[in-house]
Amino acid sequence: MAPAPYRVRRVSRDTHDTVTIELEPPHDRVPSGSAAGPRFAPGQFNMLYMFGLGEVPISISGDPAEPDALVHTVRAVGAVTRALRGLRRGAVVGVRGPYGSAWPVDEAAGHDVVIMAGGIGLAPLRPAIYHLLARRDRYGKVVLLYGARTPADLLYTRQLERWRGRFDAQIEVTVDAAPPGTWLGHVGVAGTLLPRAEFDASRAVALVCGPEVMMRFAIADLRHRGLAPEQIYLSMERNMRCAIGLCGHCQFGPTFVCKDGPVFRYDRLAPFLGVREF
Ligand SMILES: Cc1cc2nc3c(=O)[nH]c(=O)nc-3n(C[C@H](O)[C@H](O)[C@H](O)COP(=O)(O)OP(=O)(O)OC[C@H]3O[C@@H](n4cnc5c(N)ncnc54)[C@H](O)[C@@H]3O)c2cc1C
Ligand code: FES
Repeated sequence: MAPAPYRVRRVSRDTHDTVTIELEPPHDRVPSGSAAGPRFAPGQFNMLYMFGLGEVPISISGDPAEPDALVHTVRAVGAVTRALRGLRRGAVVGVRGPYGSAWPVDEAAGHDVVIMAGGIGLAPLRPAIYHLLARRDRYGKVVLLYGARTPADLLYTRQLERWRGRFDAQIEVTVDAAPPGTWLGHVGVAGTLLPRAEFDASRAVALVCGPEVMMRFAIADLRHRGLAPEQIYLSMERNMRCAIGLCGHCQFGPTFVCKDGPVFRYDRLAPFLGVREF
C-alpha cells in the first residue's frame, strides 16, 4: 500500500520534544459530504512517511468519533520523528493505515477499566479514553493513572483537567521528579498511584502503555492488586518496516507485532517478555 498524501492542518506543541499533529487529506481526495479521515479503532497506528527521510509507526491519538481529523502525537527521538516535530501547517506527509489491533473497549463494557500510561504511552490510550468517556454509563469505574518524567513532560494537561472536572472518572497524575517548588502533585512512578485507585480487581480490565520497564512494573503491581493475566492488555511499540506482516522485522516466534498487535492480552505475550531479542 502506497502512502496517501495528507496535509498538516494544525500542529500544537505538547512539551519540549512532543507535538500533536492534525492531518487532513487533500480536498480533491474526499468525496463531498464524507468524513475526511479513515475510521480507526482505539489503539491502532498509522505509518507516517516523511519524503526523503523514511517512515515510522505512530499511534492515532485523536477521538475515534471524529475521523475528519487524523491526529498523532509524536515525540522526537530520531531523524524521522524530529522531522515530524518540525512540520508546519500546510506541509504534506505520507500516511498508510490504520493498522494493528485495538484496545478491547467493547469487551470491557460492564467492567471497571484501569488505564496505566507512562510518558508518550498516553497517546495510544487517548482514543480509548475518549471512547470510554463518551459511553460512560456502559462501564463501571474508570481510572487513569498517568506518569511522566517531570511536570514539563506531561501531555494533554488541559484535557486531563477537563476529564478530572467531569467527576465520573478518577484521574491521577504523577511525575518521577520535579524541581523544588514546581509541583504540588504526587511524585513517584505510575505504579505508586495504584493503592489510591478505586476499582474492583475481580471485575477490572487494565490497559497499559509506556516504556517497557514501566509496563513490567505496572503488570507486577496490577497482578499484586489481584488482576489475572487475562485482565491486562499492553501495547508493544516495536520497530516496524512494512506494518502488514510481510517483512518479518517485528516478528517474535509466530507473532507479528504489526498485525497481531500492537495491543496484546498479557497472558499471550508473557512467554516472550523475558526474551532478550523481544
Ligand atoms: C505501533 C507503534 C506505535 C507508536 N506510536 C508512537 C506514538 O504515538 N508517538 C511516538 O512519538 N512514537 C510512537 N512510536 C515510536 C516511533 O515509531 C519511534 O520513535 C520512531 O520509529 C523512531 O524513528 P526515528 O527515525 O525518529 O528515530 P530512530 O533513529 O529510528 O530511533 C531513535 C531512537 O529511538 C529508539 N526507537 C526507535 N523506535 C522505537 C520504538 N518503537 N520504541 C522505543 N524506542 C524506539 C531507537 O532505538 C533509537 O534509540 C510507536 C511505535 C510503534 C511500533
Ligand atoms: S513490520 Fe514487517 S512484518 Fe511487521
